[in-house]
Amino acid sequence: MTRIRLIVSGATGAVGRTLVPQILAHEDFELVGAIAGRSIGRDVGVALGLGEPVGVTIAPDFAAAIAGRTADVLVDYSTSEAAARNGLAALRAGVAVILGTTAVDAAAVEEMSRVAEERGVGLFLAPNLTLVGQVMFRCADLIRPYFGDVEVVEFHNSAKRDAPSGTALETAHRLDASRHPAETPDATARGLPDARGAVSGGVHVHSVRLPSFYSRHELLFARPGEMLTVIADQFTTEPLVGPTLKAARLLMSVRGAVRDLPGLFDPD
Ligand SMILES: NC(=O)c1ccc[n+]([C@@H]2O[C@H](COP(=O)([O-])OP(=O)(O)OC[C@H]3O[C@@H](n4cnc5c(N)ncnc54)[C@H](OP(=O)(O)O)[C@@H]3O)[C@@H](O)[C@H]2O)c1
Repeated sequence: MTRIRLIVSGATGAVGRTLVPQILAHEDFELVGAIAGRSIGRDVGVALGLGEPVGVTIAPDFAAAIAGRTADVLVDYSTSEAAARNGLAALRAGVAVILGTTAVDAAAVEEMSRVAEERGVGLFLAPNLTLVGQVMFRCADLIRPYFGDVEVVEFHNSAKRDAPSGTALETAHRLDASRHPAETPDATARGLPDARGAVSGGVHVHSVRLPSFYSRHELLFARPGEMLTVIADQFTTEPLVGPTLKAARLLMSVRGAVRDLPGLFDPD
């Protein structure tokens, strides 16, 4: 099997510091670049406290990370602004992108999708790369035709920068796009303006931020007298590693932007 050469943007973040050691330990993948906001110029192994240098220096952006090297995929778990910039630069250079970063500006995603199409490289729009998240998306598609009324509640750690979460927005997008019965009219006429949450694609989304949470999404489907709840809990960054690496391999044969990678969660 050919080794896939990866650049990780956000290499020193919560996701990056779980992902990088697993890439280094994996014989099918090669870490050829690392990008972060700080620690520029330091060896990523040293910066992550892995015990020894690994020969990859932390770069401030994609251009510096790729200089003098060849890469197949940019794996991005950074910030929305950095992901928009580096993702576009990678696609223009013919490098596929896994956009794990959330809250990237819609116009930037559109531009990235256009460039991916034009250059014939893969762009995976992946706001949730956990098995529970992906199965939750499928549950949403499956259940929606039976329920006109649904609301999304997401719970995250207080350190999260975006609200609602990218997963909640992706879920709302899917719930809106699926055929479904009419919603019960909302009788709310008085009270505080934000009490019913944000509305995306006609779906109410409520964001809770507390220091004890990592990530939970609840989909509340209701009909008069009955309710169906789907809950997806993620407690650590570990569940992202396997799907992210498998996505990198699958993305090698994709051209243009995709929201799903068939086979990603099938057993190997
Ligand atoms: N798709 C999914 O399933 C999934 C799951 C979890 C998280 N996420 C998303 O992934 C992103 C990262 O999450 P996280 O929890 O790892 O965040 P985090 O702990 O805050 O880490 C952010 C990373 O981005 C880096 N960064 C900051 N400025 C940068 C720049 N200008 N260029 C490149 N890198 C820069 C940070 O480096 P410094 O610390 O050096 O500044 C750090 O390495 C968020 O958007 C989050 O919502 C997605």
